[in-house]
Amino acid sequence: MARVLMVSSEATPFAKTGGLADVTGALPAALQNLGDEVAVVMPRYRQIPWHDTESAWDNMVVYAGSTAYRVDIRTLVHKGVRFYFVEAPYFFDRDGLYNHHNTDYADNHKRFAVLSLAALGVAQTVFPCDILHCHDWQAALTPVYCLDQQHSNPAFRDVKSILTIHNLGYQGRFHKNQFPELGLNPGWLTVDKLEYHGDVNFLKGGIATSDWVTTVSPTYAKEIQTPEGGFGLDAALRHRGEAITGILNGVDYSEWSPSTDPHIPANYSAEDLAGKKACKKALLEEFRLPTDNLRRPVIGIVSRFAEQKGFDLISGIAGFIAENDVQLIILGSGEHRYERIFQDWQRWQPDKVGVWFGFNNALAHRIEAGSDMFLMPSLYEPCGLNQIYSLRYGTVPVVRATGGLDDTIQEETGFKFSTYSVGALYDTLRRALGAWRSPANWKRRMLRGMAMDYSWDASAKQYSALYQRLLGRT
Ligand code: ADP
Ligand code: GLC
Repeated sequence: MARVLMVSSEATPFAKTGGLADVTGALPAALQNLGDEVAVVMPRYRQIPWHDTESAWDNMVVYAGSTAYRVDIRTLVHKGVRFYFVEAPYFFDRDGLYNHHNTDYADNHKRFAVLSLAALGVAQTVFPCDILHCHDWQAALTPVYCLDQQHSNPAFRDVKSILTIHNLGYQGRFHKNQFPELGLNPGWLTVDKLEYHGDVNFLKGGIATSDWVTTVSPTYAKEIQTPEGGFGLDAALRHRGEAITGILNGVDYSEWSPSTDPHIPANYSAEDLAGKKACKKALLEEFRLPTDNLRRPVIGIVSRFAEQKGFDLISGIAGFIAENDVQLIILGSGEHRYERIFQDWQRWQPDKVGVWFGFNNALAHRIEAGSDMFLMPSLYEPCGLNQIYSLRYGTVPVVRATGGLDDTIQEETGFKFSTYSVGALYDTLRRALGAWRSPANWKRRMLRGMAMDYSWDASAKQYSALYQRLLGRT
């Protein structure tokens, strides 16, 4: 049994911009089922009602060098897991988590430095722990501060730290003029620690100082150690090569199962697929697309609009949609250039293309349930959750073989291609369409996907074993 304090900038159901929240919202409970004791520290953002929380510690003062920040620690228990919220309205009582109108907050370095410092405060007061398990760049200074304080503070002497990288594309990189505001002595701003091409790099600091680094799939663990997949940090990662593991994410089937999903118009299962057809019809109606021929396949996309997710390829398949008897439904938000492209498609082909811009969890569920194929041709993908949800919903994934997509989708359950090119995507979609024309074969593929089990238990066991190993107990 280990006492584990997770440090994260998001967790469902409190704050979410992507899969990180799904992971930190579900992994703690899975670990508790195995006997570990887990709590999560995160900011109290504006949308988390203060009144739902109670005081855990008032007037905690944390120091970034000589600057003192006063925070309160609020708490609640959700589904058996204790959450600690860092109450610092001057940093977190804002509209967005990281940015507003696509512009990053100018003080993000201070906001997330204080998250890490407050997490150490929690570890020293209300939740003494054996393991600090930190997620992504926003929490990556936690092991740095821990090491910085270890000599002077016996509370942290035996604490081990883990950094889980969910996405190497986001590193928390700031101008070196901002370094003094972190309260670390200049010895930390060296090329083997936080310095990166003259800047400060939070993630690099976490990679250098944590006791272990994990990432969210075995294939991505290899990719990030290559120049192609390393986003400039491959050398730093190779340096830690002996201490890097890929642990595939699980998914929370209590949230994502067509047989129990409250967000979809009809429930269904592998034994009785009738509801899926009803979901498809309702989805088409919701997007005002023709429902005259339900034998026409619906291709679904739910995604952040970012280069990572393969939108430069998707932008190239307007011809495929025009030439073939298919319908395309897109839910996403992010870069406006992609919104404009899909808006144009909808204008040109109103019977074939439906779009919804923004973040809408219930609609994401309805698209998973109502689509026949799920398109995710990512440029890179640390793990990816939507393709795993799709499997369970009998929605056959069409993916690029990269990172976690390669680890979770096989030819028996989906369609995948390697070369990052519009041509390769075209060919794969053609292949999928060919297979669609044989209903019996298609159904076999769906059922194989629906039978796959990516529940958290298996992944949690690997994290739990890693904790024991770091604590020298195995
Ligand atoms: P990433 O974290 O890189 O965005 P993942 O596949 O790991 O990718 O997780 C994305 C999560 O965010 C999924 O739970 C997905 O359903 C959700 N999601 C992404 N975009 C939207 C959106 N526009 N509306 C609702 N949910 C979304
Ligand atoms: C990141 C990755 C995604 C992964 C998620 C959860 O946002 O882009 O691939 O599934 O984190 O680990």
